[in-house]
Amino acid sequence: MKDLLATLGPNDPDWELARAIDANRLPAHIAIIMDGNGRWANRRSLPRVAGHRAGVGPVRSTVETCARLGIQVLTLYAFSVENWKRPRAEVDTLWRLLGFYLRKELPELQSNDIRLKAIGRLEALPDGVRRQLEDVVAATKRNRGLLVNLAINYGGRAELVDAMNAALDRARARGEADTFRFDERSISENLYTAGHPEPDLLIRTSGELRVSNFLLWQIAYAEFFVTDTLWPDFTRSDLLKAILAYQARDRRYGGLSPSLDTPVASAGEVQVEAAGAVFR
Ligand code: FPP
Repeated sequence: MKDLLATLGPNDPDWELARAIDANRLPAHIAIIMDGNGRWANRRSLPRVAGHRAGVGPVRSTVETCARLGIQVLTLYAFSVENWKRPRAEVDTLWRLLGFYLRKELPELQSNDIRLKAIGRLEALPDGVRRQLEDVVAATKRNRGLLVNLAINYGGRAELVDAMNAALDRARARGEADTFRFDERSISENLYTAGHPEPDLLIRTSGELRVSNFLLWQIAYAEFFVTDTLWPDFTRSDLLKAILAYQARDRRYGGLSPSLDTPVASAGEVQVEAAGAVFR
């Protein structure tokens, strides 16, 4: 919990929520699908880009809260490989906002020991934004606090294709291409997120129940938290509530929770009814 409570104080509306969080069971990695900017703007009869502009504030506050809590990794889905299908003006606004965010936030990132990384097919970004990103990544690479992954021109399938090609290239370089076979390790080691813990908690705003090609490999055992709140309205309270919900979950990874770890029936006694058929 590092210094979140110290910065809130007992009169803050989030004080009780923050106090309820178990500092010993924080998610190591939180991933967020920031959705609903367009609907937020529509509801106010504003152009869609106004929703994206309003989405910058929650990015800042979420980064700050995660850093204060002592979360290790925060991954934010900022632009997908599919988002190029949007009107040119909207895409250009997203690049401008990203540039604005990077320029404005660099001193904050530095003073809070936050490292910024970008994941995705970055070579396709406009030159100016790509260079800006590279500069901020280089400037913060020695920071040891929160790691913020900005997923930009990111797609989970594209990442898997890139990881497999990278694994194959490495095998070729070792002269082992003929005998090489993919396994979970060779794929994991070549993901954009190699070496980072997998997301424990995946948050999606705006109520949509979709994964949208985000971190497909890494979310195998992530806990989902979906809120109806639209991204521009996402507050520190929403983030703390998501973490509390995560801490109430029973994570079994396909096994049994300790309280159920006694045999209840022999295999032959178990009957499963499915679509009218009984299997023994
Ligand atoms: C999804 O809402 C949001 C995006 C595609 C872009 C996310 C961008 C920001 C939050 C702006 C700032 C980002 C950074 C990293 C500084 P949507 O447009 O799909 O909303 P809709 O589903 O309601 O149309």
